Amino acid sequence: MNVSLTSPLDMHLHVRQDSMLRVVAPLSAEHFAGAVIMPNLLPPVDHLERLLWYTEEVRSAVGTATFEPYMTLFFRDYTEQELEAAKPHLLGIKLYPAGATTNSEAGVQHISAMDHVFRIMQDLDIPLLVHGETHGFVMDREREFCEVYKHLATTYPRLRITMEHITTQDSVQLLDRFENLFATVTAHHLVITLDDVVGGLMNPHLFCKPIAKRPEDRDALLQAALAAHPKIMLGSDSAPHPVSSKECPGCAAGVFTAPILLPLLAELFAQHGALDRLQDFVSSNAQRIYRVTPPHKVVTLQDVPMTIPPMYDTVVPMWAGRTLGWSVTAVH
Ligand code: DOR
Ligand code: ZN
Repeated sequence: MNVSLTSPLDMHLHVRQDSMLRVVAPLSAEHFAGAVIMPNLLPPVDHLERLLWYTEEVRSAVGTATFEPYMTLFFRDYTEQELEAAKPHLLGIKLYPAGATTNSEAGVQHISAMDHVFRIMQDLDIPLLVHGETHGFVMDREREFCEVYKHLATTYPRLRITMEHITTQDSVQLLDRFENLFATVTAHHLVITLDDVVGGLMNPHLFCKPIAKRPEDRDALLQAALAAHPKIMLGSDSAPHPVSSKECPGCAAGVFTAPILLPLLAELFAQHGALDRLQDFVSSNAQRIYRVTPPHKVVTLQDVPMTIPPMYDTVVPMWAGRTLGWSVTAVH
């Protein structure tokens, strides 16, 4: 059995900077034709000059690979002039509630005080990408944030809003209620629940924000992905941290999946007899939603087993040591 994917895209990716960037960016560029690059560096990517610098850093890290970085700015109180100048260089603006996750301390304290920025984004047709979690009880954060999505979607009906890395049944249902709401889904949230993180011995390499939820939540995400729901795209949230920051007290949030994404998804979609829908989930939906045309790249996967390496440099990937039933066998 095999499947060929045209120009796979990862619509939510962390590649960091410096030596980590040079380790992880080539791994994504090997299998993907492009990715949406998250701006949560320290300090964040929150002005044009830094955006242009970071774009060049990412391009230089991937070298000659066919790979388009779709850049994002870190949401703050921008002026119209700033956003007009930045628009040609970005895909969207990523909003983090302050303190919601890794390197988000500079995020938004009061979303309701940012109305003028949302209005400018709507007028300029710049998509809003959102880390949708409140500061409530950890299992309820995403569900509570649905109220914010409803407010934004109705107040700014022409603003395209992406609910990043959704993890709950409620979020899947919300998508169908508002025309201007879209979502990314990670690969790990299609296959794990909270039980895999803390139900037995704790697994720090599966700890991320938002935390994996209940079986019925995972099932709702999986059904939507397998059905190639037209408003859902793969956004891996692959988020590398050195092993020293994961296997320690105060474990950093983030699951590193970049090098195993396509084999994992091919195996999963094949198991459910849905291989013919994988192209929509990993590329076509995103191209339509964001109106992008990525570089041409054809990635072929076959049911040839792949054992996941224990480490990529200092980073432990999800399911290290496990064998997946599928692997990438050709890239053109
Ligand atoms: O688990 C996560 N890690 N969730 C995020 O939203 C950010 C990410 C990171 O940057 O490490
Ligand atoms: Zn992320």
